[in-house]
Amino acid sequence: MSDNWWRGAAIYQVYVRSFADGDGDGTGDLTGVRSKLQYLADLGIDAIWFNPWYPSPMDDGGYDVSDYRDIEPVFGSLAEAEKLIEEAHGLGIRIIIDIVPNHCSDEHPWFRAALAAGPGSPERERFWFRDGVDGGPPNNWQSRFGGSAWTQAPDGQWFLHLYSSRQPDLNWTNPQVHTEFADILRFWFNRGVDGFRIDVADGLVKQDGLPDVDDPDGRLPYSDLDGVHEIYREWRKIADSYEDKRVFVGEMWLPDPQRFAMYLRPDELHSAFNFDFLSCPWDAKRLREVVDATRDAHAPVDAPATWVLSNHDVTRHVTRYGRADTSFSFADRQHKAPTDRQLGLRRARAAALLTLALPGGVYIYQGEELGLSEAEDLADEVRQDPVFRRTNGTDIGRDGCRVPLPWSGTESPYGFNTTGAAPWLPQPDDWSAATVAAQTGDEDSMLELYRSALRLRHAEPGLGDGPMTWLDVPEGVLAFARDDRFACVVNLSGAAVPMPPHTEVLLASGPLEGTDLPSDTAVWLRTHQAMGPSSS
Ligand code: GLC
Repeated sequence: MSDNWWRGAAIYQVYVRSFADGDGDGTGDLTGVRSKLQYLADLGIDAIWFNPWYPSPMDDGGYDVSDYRDIEPVFGSLAEAEKLIEEAHGLGIRIIIDIVPNHCSDEHPWFRAALAAGPGSPERERFWFRDGVDGGPPNNWQSRFGGSAWTQAPDGQWFLHLYSSRQPDLNWTNPQVHTEFADILRFWFNRGVDGFRIDVADGLVKQDGLPDVDDPDGRLPYSDLDGVHEIYREWRKIADSYEDKRVFVGEMWLPDPQRFAMYLRPDELHSAFNFDFLSCPWDAKRLREVVDATRDAHAPVDAPATWVLSNHDVTRHVTRYGRADTSFSFADRQHKAPTDRQLGLRRARAAALLTLALPGGVYIYQGEELGLSEAEDLADEVRQDPVFRRTNGTDIGRDGCRVPLPWSGTESPYGFNTTGAAPWLPQPDDWSAATVAAQTGDEDSMLELYRSALRLRHAEPGLGDGPMTWLDVPEGVLAFARDDRFACVVNLSGAAVPMPPHTEVLLASGPLEGTDLPSDTAVWLRTHQAMGPSSS
């Protein structure tokens, strides 16, 4: 495997709780993942990113970590994680794990000690404890999950939590926090982990004095402060101290592509999720703008772009693409707008060929390869996301994209386990055609489309990271060449368009109409003569 494997890698996101349940208790686990490693190898992915697998009270699906050096007992054990890493490596699959440095769980020993030690203690200095103002919280910061970002400890002091009140923010001005996380990185690197996905990577540093949020330009005193880059320089030195390549991917939702790219300077993170692309509507002009802006921002720092359509925090894109408004925004999640599943599926198939042909790395969220929709009809009582709770249900939260995967069979648990135990979130009753077993061998299925596309992505020397050139095509169509032998054409206009001449179809996202490419369809083409570039 090449040293620069991450630059063009196809990385599959495993949300452990919902992937496969090996011990049959209704919750996914590492035994389940191990039993499906061959499935992932056959799919053709290069790496897995695991959502947090650490011991956790699961207030926020594991993003509330109580011990960074062990495995959640419901998921397995450290010994099993080590085995999994080894087995994955044996199949040529790298392992990236989540690290959550902005906050920990209120059950983490540090936070327990802080509560016990009381105001003014060094234990409290690892967090953000402050006295209140006029009987209220110390400032006006709001939790990203709704409500105030401050909660009162029993002795009256308040502590900061940008997420749920069970996720106290760590204080990165405290050297102990730096030492601790440096040690945690080494702990996992030493166990063979190939990289970390950094949760809330922009949030670790808070503005001195914790001033109120009141910047007219929307700048937040807890996001994207310059000091955060020092942390990633420290971390990069640790990664680079290993002989083989260890990498970081940052999670930053930032409005400014230039600020975003600063995290990708050569002595900081290797890559970051492209949320502008994820949020972009199904519109040729807008998508092209995002692709160009992404490439323009990444080029000066020589970082590969990434392409992301879905993850565990957002509406599944089959559902999004079937709506009148095909963009994603957290603010819109309150509304369950009507969706046309067939249209969404057709576009999602075309989007798969688009993302897998663009230059850089690509992320595939578990179940996306099965064309799963968002489960929007979950009953209030089964919803577990703190977002739902903290907003009193005005935001329905993220459970709908986290429903356990269907592997086989015609009714729940659809092979998620073999004991028949009810999955931790109920599965829709119309998933029998969506299972891995049902789709395998069906040439028209989403799963076989992903398999074929990933196989070709590996076989085509021009795919993965590298140059691209836009081609001249009618409005509403996206077309680009990756080298002089390969092109991708995506038709987002409302009508069929002729395909470029002197080409041969390698893969199509849907049926073609002779030499025409129907609407909401994409093709990968072998080009037999140089195709006229437009401005690139
Ligand atoms: C990130 C995670 C999300 C989590 C939050 C707090 O945005 O992706 O799932 O709730 O951070 O850790």
